[in-house]
Amino acid sequence: MFADFDGIRDWFVGYTHTFDLSVPMIQVKYRHSFDVMRVGRTLIEALSWPPANAAVGVAACLLHDTGRFSQYRDFGTYYDGASVDHGDRGYEILRAEFPRALVDDEAWEVLLQAVKQHNKKNLPEVDPQAAPFCRLTRDSDKLDVFKMVDRRIQEGTVAELLPRHRIDAPLSKALLDEIERNRSGSYKNAASLQDFLLIQLTWMLDLNFAPSFQMLEDSGVPARIRSRFPQNDAGVQGLLDRLFAWIAEHRQAVAQRAV
Ligand SMILES: [Fe+2]
Repeated sequence: MFADFDGIRDWFVGYTHTFDLSVPMIQVKYRHSFDVMRVGRTLIEALSWPPANAAVGVAACLLHDTGRFSQYRDFGTYYDGASVDHGDRGYEILRAEFPRALVDDEAWEVLLQAVKQHNKKNLPEVDPQAAPFCRLTRDSDKLDVFKMVDRRIQEGTVAELLPRHRIDAPLSKALLDEIERNRSGSYKNAASLQDFLLIQLTWMLDLNFAPSFQMLEDSGVPARIRSRFPQNDAGVQGLLDRLFAWIAEHRQAVAQRAV
């Protein structure tokens, strides 16, 4: 598998600079792309991937949100439910605009799948060769969004990042019920910052690699999220207890799979 990573990075920088990067919401996605690339690189090192795969994995992480830039230009929102599926849009942009000479056929298929599937609620059945790259991209993206939202809360600027969510509103009953039932939550049931944070915690049930759990735990973010929920609401705390137990079970299963 071959990918010219420097060439890919240069293409991505050029492509994104056709948008107005002085718009804060667009700048957020530009920075996020490079942050996810760095998380991906750290994960790849922890997983000891061979160099050829590493270049493709890091490239997939950098390119994962290619669809975000035109999504925001065309619809003024990052809410896929009210605009387009930004994974599908990224896939289409790559097929139309990406210089194919930068990758061989194998890497090309892998990059397309990793970008297309990075945002799907569950990873569908994909080509076995593409699967680890899809998992890497999904984990790296989640880990950076955890960090980014946590940082924005601490800086007092999270409202700009989540314009659809009411910052001081309580948890939604519909979301609590959905997570109890399905172990996952939909954005259509998320109206508040607390709802968003609760959905974030359920993302941990979809992490794919042991080092992803470790990196997240080391960041202190999941514990900080938990501390932001009402401490004296027995219903909420009961659900959180169950959710953290499901996460521990899943983490165990992932650790055993790696052995
Ligand atoms: Fe994304």
